[in-house]
Amino acid sequence: MSKITPYNAYISAVGHYMPEKVVTNEYFSKYLDTSHQWIMERTGIAERRFLGDDQPTSYAGVKAIEELLKNRGIGPDEIDLLIVATVTPDMIYPSTACVIQDILGMKNCWGFDMLAACSGFIFALTTGAQFIESGMHKKVIVLGAEKMSAIVDMQDRNTCVLFGDGAAAVLLEPTEDKSYGILDSLMHIDGAGGKYLYQAAGGSKYPTSHETVDKKMHLVHQEGRAVFMAAVKGMADISFEIMEKNNLSPDDVAYLIPHQANLRIIAACAERMGIGMEKVMLNIEKYGNTTAATIPSCISEYWQNGKIKKDDYLILTSFGAGFTWGSILVRWAY
Ligand code: ACO
Repeated sequence: MSKITPYNAYISAVGHYMPEKVVTNEYFSKYLDTSHQWIMERTGIAERRFLGDDQPTSYAGVKAIEELLKNRGIGPDEIDLLIVATVTPDMIYPSTACVIQDILGMKNCWGFDMLAACSGFIFALTTGAQFIESGMHKKVIVLGAEKMSAIVDMQDRNTCVLFGDGAAAVLLEPTEDKSYGILDSLMHIDGAGGKYLYQAAGGSKYPTSHETVDKKMHLVHQEGRAVFMAAVKGMADISFEIMEKNNLSPDDVAYLIPHQANLRIIAACAERMGIGMEKVMLNIEKYGNTTAATIPSCISEYWQNGKIKKDDYLILTSFGAGFTWGSILVRWAY
């Protein structure tokens, strides 16, 4: 799809950070009625990483951006804009973008947080690309960073086994060659799905109180089956749609990069697109669902392992709380 803008935004560098602390499925089966077999068969998750008590989301975000800057060979003062996709900011405000900007000394950059749950990275990448395409900025970092372990009820087997912590970032820069970079984005929200996945307390509707804490309203609540069914349809449909809209066949696509919530959702999405699992980027087995960090961490790991090549068509796709869902078509430029 050709856009009427002077530039396309392309991904010029990546970086990620996964915490050192590994939490296996056996950790949960020691105190909850669950098992490694159940978790593996129903989700595809074997282990996840948790940040330490003194390590907020910004800790992981800073590490991911440091790696990105090193990979690109530039300093923090060269960045124009930082967008942080997260549902686990260090605090409600100041934004985690402000926290990270200060820690890293990104003195020429502005920034903000963006909340779209598991679609956060897709929405933030599309937003970041606009600032490049318009010619307003030359270097935009889009970071997905989460400390899900801080908002999950560790006594609820329906949710605590699913999530992990981590961060990953991409750098966007302009190219005049409109056949590369972010070629197309499709995004949706449907607030009617909000009742199936939410964190109710801590905002203006239910300000934090002894009662909200006693009722665990500050933690993730999920109706897993309802989200599962909506995610299968939402992710599969939108991935297929972006492929078809851009006249690509499954053979043209080098990789599908799906949000890593459940291996069965991912497999259904790949099947609908006619793409074999060997062309699906995966890290769910090692990290679980890191919400806004799943897609960029896959890209960063696969890039680091030399698996992404110039000219590759990549389809990024997500589904998450809101409901929110979206897909982006990228042609790798370097
Ligand atoms: N161990 C053992 N049993 C469990 C566990 C567990 N960890 N978790 C749930 N169960 C039980 C349930 O209690 C239920 O028992 P019951 O029949 O006695 O009530 C049974 O397993 C079946 O539960 P289902 O919810 O039907 O199981 P399902 O196959 O759907 O798997 C899961 C549950 C993994 C949560 C799945 O529904 C899922 O992945 N949902 C989508 C998650 C997702 O995509 N989230 C969106 C992104 S997250 C974001 O935006 C922040």
